[in-house]
Amino acid sequence: MKSFYITTAIDYANGSPHLGHAYEKVLTDVISRFRRQMGDTVYFLTGTDEHGQKVQASARKQGVEPQAYVDRISAEFQALCARLDVSNNDFIRTTEPRHKQVVRAILQQLFDRGEIYQAEYRGFYSTRQEQFLQEKDRLPDGSWPEIYGEVTDIVEKNYFFRLRKYQDWLIDYLRTHEDFIFPKYRQKQVLEFLKEPLNDLCISRPKERLEWGIPLPFDENYVTYVWFDALLNYYSAVADKGLWPADFNVIGKDILVPPHAVYWPIMLHASGLPPPKALLVHGWWLQGGAKMSKSKGETVNPLSLVDQFGVDAFRYFLIREMNVGQDSEFTVEQFLVRYNSELANNLGNLVNRTLNMTTRFAAGVIPAVDVTEDPERELQELWTKTRDEAVPLCEQFQFHTALERGMAFITATNAYIEKRAPWKLGKSAEAKDQALLRTSLATMAEALRLAVALMRHVTPSTTDKINAVLGYTPGPVWRDELVWGAKLKGARVAESLVLFPRPEKKVG
Ligand code: MSP
Repeated sequence: MKSFYITTAIDYANGSPHLGHAYEKVLTDVISRFRRQMGDTVYFLTGTDEHGQKVQASARKQGVEPQAYVDRISAEFQALCARLDVSNNDFIRTTEPRHKQVVRAILQQLFDRGEIYQAEYRGFYSTRQEQFLQEKDRLPDGSWPEIYGEVTDIVEKNYFFRLRKYQDWLIDYLRTHEDFIFPKYRQKQVLEFLKEPLNDLCISRPKERLEWGIPLPFDENYVTYVWFDALLNYYSAVADKGLWPADFNVIGKDILVPPHAVYWPIMLHASGLPPPKALLVHGWWLQGGAKMSKSKGETVNPLSLVDQFGVDAFRYFLIREMNVGQDSEFTVEQFLVRYNSELANNLGNLVNRTLNMTTRFAAGVIPAVDVTEDPERELQELWTKTRDEAVPLCEQFQFHTALERGMAFITATNAYIEKRAPWKLGKSAEAKDQALLRTSLATMAEALRLAVALMRHVTPSTTDKINAVLGYTPGPVWRDELVWGAKLKGARVAESLVLFPRPEKKVG
């Protein structure tokens, strides 16, 4: 079995999770579940980023110790993962000893080899971004862009990592590894960024200014710059498991350049480690055209949507609506459109009809196919086409299109049922009509089984529930489950299943 190591970004422990964080976890979970279905052994890591200025400031604001504060926020993120049915194998916190140990060992090794040096820094510093700024970062009118918050003049001694030394190596690496970043066009943006000379990276913060961090092993008067600490989580979590390099680091587009596309591969290379095999970069959930974020106030609380509509409706929406890599506007109206038309009406209807009619006309036992005519042949052909397109789409992270194909197949199955009208056949005593009735019941049940097998990585518990009411236990090999057959013959179905009830209260 092939092993597949995938990670999400680790979320800042400076506020509660919102829809953007939930999306990244669900997306990575969908990829993980899909790869497991395809036979890989998946190791899926997520976690929280718990050091740095922002966290220290948030804790102070609430009048609590940083450790107590991050314990609470990290627990919220862990609870979110559980509630979203996220199948992560591990959850790393950057305040854990296992992480700090690796960060300190790598820093020491880089220091010993002269990759880190001390120098005096004079210039501008943005507290909000925890970043040193240069003249070129100013706006044409001389002011600083709003994202930097308050910018102060400072002079201080710090430690620097020799980023510049590896600029040519990185350019060459990107040119020879065309698939390093998905979607591909983002790799060009990185190369564009690398046309300007890189500055060495300041990786220390004096303790007087920031206490909440990992002390530098070679100078305890400083703590480690939070990005240098955080990026190493992907490695520290598996350092003793032989899983490095990761197959994918899944991240949002805001943290590609420079942290993941520049610092990260260079940090690894300078430490004698290979870069991750690829970065998967997703877009943003927007609200009113702007990135949904804590600092902008009102965000969508994923848990309230899950409480109201169920976890699979939430997962389905996120994956169906977003084309991986692009941005998407979140609105409750659009959520309700997908919920009602695709889940409640289209899929919900097929489930209800299959269970009702099998109960009414076949005493709850799925019959064998008796005759196969054009309508059955057409539906089977559509299935083969749907599956043969959907699986490669999922391999290319086009989960939204794969779901669309799956829904179209469900629509076609409902149309098939209209055409066969089993409720009419059930009233006839003619042998031919009885044969067609058995055929149509078997066909709709098989189509339903296949459709939900195809969606299993997105809606795992819905697929399980539907299999259960169909009296069916899937086999171990997912690809075999996608073959049209007579797997349900003789199965005893439940009388009903309420899957996607109409919302009663107002959403919000
Ligand atoms: N702590 C850093 C990442 C360190 S990784 C070594 C960080 N944290 S974050 O909490 O701000 O963001 C975590 C992830 O959530 C990022 O990949 C980010 O892109 C993603 N999202 C945050 N808001 C988002 C949206 N509105 N939409 C989609 N994802 C976005 O950055």
